[in-house]
Amino acid sequence: MRLALAHNIKKDTGSIHTQSEESLSSSSPKADFRKYLSENLINNYPERLDDTYAEWDSEETITAVKNALEEGGHEVTLIEGDVDAFEKFKVINPDFVFNVAEGLNGSSRESQIPSMLEMLGIPFTGSDSITNGICHDKSRCKEILSYYKIPNPEFFITDAIHKTENKLTYPKFVKPLHEGSSKGIFNSSVVNNCAELRNEIIRIKECYNQPSLVEDFLTGKEFTVAMLGNGDDVKVLPIVEINLESVPEGFNKIYSYEVKWFFDTRESMLDIFKCPAQIDEKLYSGIESLCKAAFKALRLRDWARIDVRLDNNGVPNIVEVNPLPGILPDPADNSCYPKAAREIGLDYNAMINEVLQTAVKRVKSSINELSF
Ligand SMILES: Nc1ncnc2c1ncn2[C@@H]1O[C@H](COP(=O)(O)OP(=O)(O)OP(=O)(O)O)[C@@H](O)[C@H]1O
Ligand SMILES: [Mg+2]
Repeated sequence: MRLALAHNIKKDTGSIHTQSEESLSSSSPKADFRKYLSENLINNYPERLDDTYAEWDSEETITAVKNALEEGGHEVTLIEGDVDAFEKFKVINPDFVFNVAEGLNGSSRESQIPSMLEMLGIPFTGSDSITNGICHDKSRCKEILSYYKIPNPEFFITDAIHKTENKLTYPKFVKPLHEGSSKGIFNSSVVNNCAELRNEIIRIKECYNQPSLVEDFLTGKEFTVAMLGNGDDVKVLPIVEINLESVPEGFNKIYSYEVKWFFDTRESMLDIFKCPAQIDEKLYSGIESLCKAAFKALRLRDWARIDVRLDNNGVPNIVEVNPLPGILPDPADNSCYPKAAREIGLDYNAMINEVLQTAVKRVKSSINELSF
């Protein structure tokens, strides 16, 4: 097939900003989040301190996806997910698009490339524009899960400090409403009183120019679940447990930005994953059913990664849903989706081609509109 690979490559944040990067300023930090980090992190990992493009892919990842698709026998054109993408799709008119693009601005940015492709009638991998947009706004996603009675932590959203005066129970967890890759999630995200909650709301507003999602803090084990397929054929790949015991002492047991990008490095990998998770059968199948229910409720397509954590009573809750899962190719980078795929014998290239074939099969069998 003649494929296009829609993507956004991480910018070198040390470089002079181009016009399209400048346009990101509406959603990028108003203030430098460095002032909220410890000296130790600032001194040891200076190159990772700018999180503006944390969600975007590295050149290494995009090259690996392109190589995988070429190995699958396809011709691949790279298309950057920016304002020029529409014209390029129109001119090139590929048979199919492999979409990993994050998009540019706003809470529904992950739906921008799918919207363009829907308008042009070009089929593409992954969820449609509505589902990508909804999942990127964590509160909208939770509202749908709640409607279907799919457990997820109690929450409210706010950027108004005075509204937090009410008597709340603690601890709470505070995160930006529409970010990924643990952007904006630090050790301080777990709050134990009103003063700490206020600080986090201010930090998120100052650094990310968006409201906070304030949730009950789930204290149990954490898992992440890779999904592949559609409708009744959706497969749950081996469940990955996030080994929060490996989080350095003195830090909260969360998979924060510090843990993902400062503590778990190629040079010094944390023992952060257990795959498949070593849990009893009942819990294992409970997590599988939960994720299948979420996949259906949100009308996800082809692939996704769903984060799950147990509450104080051991009940699995959905933490967050990723219709565009991270797919770092080097196993030393501890990327969950490729890790789960390797467990069922799919190496990186086979995994990418399997996602493509899943999407092609969906389009061919006209199950674009999933049956209920
Ligand atoms: N309500 C919660 N209770 C306990 N821990 C939480 C809660 N929400 C998030 N976390 C912790 O914070 C981490 C990051 O949160 P979340 O998955 O929402 O962020 P993200 O940036 O969307 O992540 P990703 O990198 O998967 O896109 C989780 O993996 C989990 O460890
Ligand atoms: Mg997550």
